[in-house]
Amino acid sequence: MAKNIRLVSFRFNTFESDNSKRYNMSFISQSILDYAEKHTEPESKILQELRIETWQKILAPRMLSGHLQGRLLSLISKLMQPKMILEIGTYTGYSTLCLAEGLAANGMIHTIDNNEELVDFQKKYFIKAGFDTQIIQHTGPALAIIPQLKYNYDLVFIDADKINYNTYFEQIIDKVNVGGIILSDNVLWGGKVVKTPLKNDWDTKSIINFNTKLKKDKRVEILLLPFRDGISIARKL
Ligand SMILES: C[S@@+](CC[C@H](N)C(=O)[O-])C[C@H]1O[C@@H](n2cnc3c(N)ncnc32)[C@H](O)[C@@H]1O
Repeated sequence: MAKNIRLVSFRFNTFESDNSKRYNMSFISQSILDYAEKHTEPESKILQELRIETWQKILAPRMLSGHLQGRLLSLISKLMQPKMILEIGTYTGYSTLCLAEGLAANGMIHTIDNNEELVDFQKKYFIKAGFDTQIIQHTGPALAIIPQLKYNYDLVFIDADKINYNTYFEQIIDKVNVGGIILSDNVLWGGKVVKTPLKNDWDTKSIINFNTKLKKDKRVEILLLPFRDGISIARKL
């Protein structure tokens, strides 16, 4: 029950510029998004099935990356051909499977989510996509699980609770190989980052601090891409 309450609150914190489309949380107009989707590689049948089943059965489906962001994750992964990926925030596994598309032979993804009700759903699709031996699911609070994982990563995707973004970054930065990439989702937080946050809006404050810190951080070079809800790309120096 507590889990449901948390997910619902996440959902209403998530910006939507246009309610007409199922996963629009973008600053770009719907017609431009439609055009971009039309001129982008389609998602696979399995990803399409996963997305539809998520929207039919799972709470807060807007959290799923979706077609365009999924293709961005897939492309970055294919360009990098990572041996080891860490994902913080699996949800129903859409982004995990997109990232998996670029894995090097024998590459692995460790993906973390604290919602145990999603584990079987994720597993079903990891098996369907043929990536079940390369994707290791971890269930529990990411803050506790990340230090237990003794790996070095080529690619990290941070997409869980916003309040902990900075701590996740600090937990993983020394484990990221030079030239490796840390992607962080929702860093524009529905546009709230350019407004004065309400006194108790800890998520917005956290994202603002995270973006400010990344810009100053000499360990990475940073691009904040105003794509969907904002995705930052930090390259380890
Ligand atoms: C935005 S969703 C991830 C979406 C997914 N990456 C995708 O693009 O399809 C965020 C996920 O983070 C998980 N989460 C939230 N707080 C967490 C925590 N402290 N530790 C681990 N997982 C957490 C939630 O259960 C949720 O499934």
